[in-house]
Amino acid sequence: MTAATSTNMIDQGLANTIAAESKMSFIDGQNGVLEYVGIDIDALARNSTFEESVYLLWHFRLPSESELAAFTDQIRNEYALPDQMWQLIKDLPKTASPMHAIRTLVSALAMHDPEADEQSPEANTRKGIRLLAKTPALIANFDRHRKDKDFIKPDPSLDIATSFLTMLNGEKPTDTMAKALDVCLILHADHGFNASTFAALVTISTLSDVYSAVTTAVGTLKGPLHGGANEAVMHTLNELGDISKVEDFVRGKLERKERVMGFGHRVYKAYDPRATYLKTFAKQLAADTGNQNLYEMSRRIEEIMAEAVAAKGIHPNVDFYSATTYYSIGLDIDLFTPMFVMSRIAGWVGHCIEYLQDNKLIRPRCEYTGPHSSPYVPMNER
Ligand code: SDX
Repeated sequence: MTAATSTNMIDQGLANTIAAESKMSFIDGQNGVLEYVGIDIDALARNSTFEESVYLLWHFRLPSESELAAFTDQIRNEYALPDQMWQLIKDLPKTASPMHAIRTLVSALAMHDPEADEQSPEANTRKGIRLLAKTPALIANFDRHRKDKDFIKPDPSLDIATSFLTMLNGEKPTDTMAKALDVCLILHADHGFNASTFAALVTISTLSDVYSAVTTAVGTLKGPLHGGANEAVMHTLNELGDISKVEDFVRGKLERKERVMGFGHRVYKAYDPRATYLKTFAKQLAADTGNQNLYEMSRRIEEIMAEAVAAKGIHPNVDFYSATTYYSIGLDIDLFTPMFVMSRIAGWVGHCIEYLQDNKLIRPRCEYTGPHSSPYVPMNER
């Protein structure tokens, strides 16, 4: 809905508003293209690593071998958690949702960082590295806490994906599973001014700090219209249980004008290129882990949605096949969106640093439609 007003058009959801320029990720919504600093996401998924992709997003170029080694060392040297963070994990309710837990834990990290309120690009990069480096241990060990398992410290000889799965499961993952998670982290790292990134920018534009901006972003990502969709997709697949129920389910949702989770996108009116990659991944991993039914149901949902709404530009988005992928990796459903957090810290921090180079407080207008010149009525006359 856009309403013409005396001076400006209201752009509901800011769908048509360009808020700033960025050199980080390019999205062609009509043709289903995503590039990180000009490099196609498919090329990065096939050839890069999460750590290398983060370097690319933050430095606007691929690193040399020695630069990548130094960057990786910087991250791994920051894996360790401050002692009090371990205690804080223990103090969290075991029944807390992991997204509430990680929002709290990320926020608490600020209090252990002496340069939390430093605003230089160098300090913000160091804080970004700390957030990237420590969040996997926070997520994995909150899960261990809620399952009454002993904590496992991060292993600085391992990359982020492998270290996370090792902490989570208490044993090193297979190369296939570690690679699968690493590719998921690449695919989710950045995506223009999505809701959670824009929320982070609103926060940093007041010259608040990166920890506050990332905390804002975690809370924003949680919603099922955004990062929470991958969990919603998995719940749908589990509720369906059998491919024979798919057609009635999808048609019922569409008839009731309800959203089918994992489909549609504010920008992509073509197939989300990340979904293209994740679909092949989900098929392979589901077959390897005896979860073929999840992939087959997903494919059937896609078939029906394609015939019903593809003409309206509604296609699978990143969350649709990431659900089967994460489930096949062995993650609990409520850890799916925390995976998105682990990855998108790269985009959130990168955009904060970039935006601060030419900062402008983000403060849109609103069209007042209430009354004027209203009297104050004393209580005994109301
Ligand atoms: C992410 O922005 C990003 O970049 C986000 C993200 C990232 O990397 O950060 O890509 C990650 O958040 C992916 C999106 C995950 N969300 C979901 O899968 C939730 C389901 N999707 C929808 O809620 C919806 O598609 C949105 C919220 C994603 C986008 O919706 P818009 O742009 O606000 O469009 P809309 O809701 O106004 O829908 C437009 C039309 C409507 O039909 P009409 O009323 O015009 O007839 O499309 C229909 C909608 O009914 N529609 C859907 C649908 N999504 C849109 N119909 C059925 N199922 C859907 N999923």
